[in-house]
Amino acid sequence: MTATASRPKLLITRQLPAPVEARATQLFDVERNETNGLWDQRTLLARAEGKDALLVTVTDRLDAATIAALPPSIRMIATFSVGHDHIDMAAANARGLPVSNTPDVLTDATAEIAILLMLGAARGATTGTAAIREGTWSNWAPTGMLGIQVTGKRLGILGLGRIGQAVARRARAFDMEIHYHNRKQLPPAQEAGAIYHSAPEALFAVSDVLSIHCASTAETRGLVNAARLALLPTDAVLVNTARGDIVVDEDLIAALKKEQPAAAGLDVFNGEPNIHPGYKDLPNAFLLPHLGSATHATREAMGMRALDNLEAFFAGRPLPDPIITN
Ligand code: DGY
Repeated sequence: MTATASRPKLLITRQLPAPVEARATQLFDVERNETNGLWDQRTLLARAEGKDALLVTVTDRLDAATIAALPPSIRMIATFSVGHDHIDMAAANARGLPVSNTPDVLTDATAEIAILLMLGAARGATTGTAAIREGTWSNWAPTGMLGIQVTGKRLGILGLGRIGQAVARRARAFDMEIHYHNRKQLPPAQEAGAIYHSAPEALFAVSDVLSIHCASTAETRGLVNAARLALLPTDAVLVNTARGDIVVDEDLIAALKKEQPAAAGLDVFNGEPNIHPGYKDLPNAFLLPHLGSATHATREAMGMRALDNLEAFFAGRPLPDPIITN
């Protein structure tokens, strides 16, 4: 596609990395969110008026009503994310509106954060950093601030997709034995020796560390609840880099208070950024503010991937990364 006066009109809902913004400007007639603040649905709809496409992020909630109310000029939505639970795909499909996402490019960054959360939670990083920052670290003690060693333990992966497999590869360097649950067993090349459990309960029961990597869907929302948490072995660690709504907050907070699981490392939450306040008082919760994909390289790659899809669409080519849900 060449830069001409008739470039498609693109609404970008959040500020993007500079090289992505520059390429977007070359390809499209871009309207931006000048303040980079969050838009409510009404603002989004008003700004979408007369545009040909939207480039949105996980902070834009495109529910069925919003999709139905989009101006007829909108012909495509690209989301700057791999997850698409913020977009009502049934409504998009009903309108015949193609939607693309940004798979692959955030796999490594998210896997790194999962490992950070596993280690940070297991080794009591919240207590340790607080002791330093608050000046309460009085001395090194043979019995002080003891954590859980993960080397040689069993890592359960709930959702052995791209990111789950990348976490498994890294965990093998800690001699961890990999277990997983997916709806269907993977071919041996993708399992790479991981042990399959057809029921999530069976996975919980063997997971010294349980790391969540499934998408948020009708089947997975609320899957990590009191009954399943109670199945975890003693001294287990829970890690979540997927979506907050896979976990029932009240159940996890109550379980962490009883140290069953012993600790949790969480990067994603229900109602971000207004997370359940109960997490903030828990010394055994190691918390990060949705940093999974937050590296310079990854965020730039995500933006470029979103633009690749928009460019393909307006050039009449198939989308490289269509979200297909029906
Ligand atoms: C995604 O892309 O879905 C992530 O949650 C953003 O980090």
